[in-house]
Amino acid sequence: MELSSRVLAVRPSVTLEIAAKAKAMKAQGIDVISLSAGEPDFDTPSFIKEACIEALRKGQTKYTPVPGTVELRQAICRKLKRDQGLDFTPEQVVVGCGAKHVIFNVLFALLNPGDEVLIPVPYWLSYPEMVTVLGGTNVFLPSTEKTDFKITPDILEKALTSRSKILILNSPSNPTGAVYSKEELLALCAVLKKHPKVIVLSDEIYEKLTFDGRKHTSIASLDPEIARRTVIVNGHSKAYAMTGWRLGYAAFPEKTLAKAVESIQSHSTSNPVSFTQPGGVVALDQGDEEARKMCEVFQKRRDLFIEKLKVVKSFKPFKSNGAFYLFVDIQGTGLSGLEVAKKLLDEVHVAVIPCEPFGSPHHIRMSYATSEKDIETAVERIASLFK
Ligand SMILES: Cc1ncc(COP(=O)(O)O)c(C=O)c1O
Repeated sequence: MELSSRVLAVRPSVTLEIAAKAKAMKAQGIDVISLSAGEPDFDTPSFIKEACIEALRKGQTKYTPVPGTVELRQAICRKLKRDQGLDFTPEQVVVGCGAKHVIFNVLFALLNPGDEVLIPVPYWLSYPEMVTVLGGTNVFLPSTEKTDFKITPDILEKALTSRSKILILNSPSNPTGAVYSKEELLALCAVLKKHPKVIVLSDEIYEKLTFDGRKHTSIASLDPEIARRTVIVNGHSKAYAMTGWRLGYAAFPEKTLAKAVESIQSHSTSNPVSFTQPGGVVALDQGDEEARKMCEVFQKRRDLFIEKLKVVKSFKPFKSNGAFYLFVDIQGTGLSGLEVAKKLLDEVHVAVIPCEPFGSPHHIRMSYATSEKDIETAVERIASLFK
């Protein structure tokens, strides 16, 4: 069968592919340590599960409104007020089947062929693939370790053109774990103010996972003019260990854009799953203490991982300030990220993610959403190959 040219331009997600290969090897009885996961290894807190079970018992098994229940959208508005100091109404919020789904729909609603989407490198691998499939043009904004893998006003200024439509910001970042400070975001706002048509898509999915006393700042909270053209995307997956629940949302500055996204969603998935939504409400209203505890564990693991990895001189980890990934420069090995990942999986059964599809061929991403014991054993295995 002939596939569409749009689909042929898209590459499947390498992260999911490697995670699947590692799982298949495990199923064959091979002792694989997977550092590929993009999800917390913790179980969903039980009070969140209970709300879902209760919803099932009560028969909440029918369609809900396409953008999610009013109760969930109200809980999202409360959260945005509490955490970001921002005022939204439920009509400005659309809940989808995970943040990934929501980002796709937002891009779908906004992009015309040839519109430019500015994406800081390294990036979450799905952004450019979505832009490609939707007919937009990716414009990659370089960053280096010198600026902690964050873009500067200068880099942004140079990339902006009359065709620039959207800037995607992701803080804390996947794959680097870099977190933009308030001052850094204010400096970007100053540049954006000279380009009033540019919309900001602020992916804040790792918001709750920041380390060493840092706090996440949403660019929308800093400047009312920028807030009027910022779409905030967030979700339950990473903060409350709810990846499988598929709950993510966007908060829009204009109801018309929310309606457009709702309309697209109404012709694809319709509503997010009905009985997960009450779980989503209690997670937002009562889940922050659990999220804080998980964050503490991630920070401890990051420190352990960096300490242990000192024996592998050819691996240079970037000290992440958030999320749960170690972004490692592997140029010292003389191999590419893809080669290192392949060698690690095939020879010592450690699954890591090569960052070529994240725009960084000389890096790998190692998730510390796994036990301390696994981290220690993984480093021993890595050292046996790359000491
Ligand atoms: C940066 C970023 N945004 C969005 C998502 C999507 O998360 P979900 O669809 O589980 O809500 C992910 C998941 O890995 C991510 O890393």
